[in-house]
Amino acid sequence: MSHPPELPLDALVQEHRVHRSLYTDEAIFADEMNRVFGGTWTFLAHESELPAPHSFVRRKLGLRPVIVSRDRDGALHVLLNRCTHRGATVCRQDEGTARRFTCPYHNWSFDSAGALVGVPIEEGYGPGFDKAALGLGKARVASYRGFIFATLNAEMPDLVTHLGPAAQLIDEWLDRWPGATLKLQRGTHRMICLGNWKLVYDNSADGYHPGFSHMSLLRMRKDRYGAGVDMQWTIGNVDHGLQTVADVGNGHTFIDQRAEIKRYWEQAAPMPGETRYEQAIRAKLGAKADAALDVVMGSGMNLNIFPNLLIIGNQIQVIEPQRVDLTHLTWYATALEAPDLPDEVNALRMRLQEDFPSFGEPDDLANFEECQAGLSIPEMEWVLTNRHLGTGKEYIGPKGMLTGPVTDDLPLRAFWREWKRLMTSTTRLAAA
Ligand code: FES
Ligand SMILES: [Fe+2]
Repeated sequence: MSHPPELPLDALVQEHRVHRSLYTDEAIFADEMNRVFGGTWTFLAHESELPAPHSFVRRKLGLRPVIVSRDRDGALHVLLNRCTHRGATVCRQDEGTARRFTCPYHNWSFDSAGALVGVPIEEGYGPGFDKAALGLGKARVASYRGFIFATLNAEMPDLVTHLGPAAQLIDEWLDRWPGATLKLQRGTHRMICLGNWKLVYDNSADGYHPGFSHMSLLRMRKDRYGAGVDMQWTIGNVDHGLQTVADVGNGHTFIDQRAEIKRYWEQAAPMPGETRYEQAIRAKLGAKADAALDVVMGSGMNLNIFPNLLIIGNQIQVIEPQRVDLTHLTWYATALEAPDLPDEVNALRMRLQEDFPSFGEPDDLANFEECQAGLSIPEMEWVLTNRHLGTGKEYIGPKGMLTGPVTDDLPLRAFWREWKRLMTSTTRLAAA
């Protein structure tokens, strides 16, 4: 158990430091699961996970169980997974196809748009019974280029406005092969982190740590494959390198490594079986093969969509908080589908998915868990967020974004500003 904070949020979240209780306090965690995850557009699923009418996946909005579904016309809905009779969940499967969600308790049934369509022995409710008023609760839902978000805040601006420059960055990430559509691969890397969810988001735009946290991976690659291979630019005084971090607005943050990558495929670390795949791609595409091989490689972008979607390289990682000190992380590999893109490109993208989540992410997970352990000490209260605060190195960069050297803590400061805004908002959240 942690202690409730004695200080108001303004004292806990300062520009140059934040209080440890934000990572350890159970009351703050409960509040942020409601206010932060319910009060903004929160990522829930990708449209490729819902391929047909009546497809559904089971997810959480904060800790609220929800169903992301398509109705019979293919329209998206985010349904609160809570029977309007006595409150039981009506969907108890992770994914599938269902025309009806039938609550196992007394068999009330709801269609894939959430309408109540069946009540056993209905006459027992008498003549005024209004089924139309008893559909499943809903969240607002919107999708941008396949990424599905939901909110319980009726006052949130539309999704594209909220994403701001992040929408353009998603376009740049997706349009590496013009005309391709993105598909999440079915298998996932699932990880359990014994740490607070914000440690993961903090790290997602932390350009200070890679050369140290991932030293063994980087050294192994350098020794085997020579300098110039993927991620070698994270070693040394990276403030003198070409990477940057940016505040994308509304809590979204970004590390841009693209200027460090001269030729994507040539800088790739070797992958098992790559020679045969490369030969097949060259045989099929001829002069276009180099461009296709380049999209195998990570994008050089780490785009973090507040509060839970991390677009990293060619993968996406979703942060799923469970308890104040327990977080689930799911890494999805992605495929690009286009008539002129051979299957071997996606086979190689899968090999890449096996790389960093297996050999790099364990370093990060170990640090998240050790941060949680260290943050349990009540007498040591503060976490620093002050790197490059006042060093004069920040500037207004591309897309009007505040930009700084890659070790700048400006992404942390951007996150906490948005977090505090949501935690102190007086907007009442409601189901539709
Ligand atoms: S609780 Fe769902 S039908 Fe009774
Ligand atoms: Fe890392």
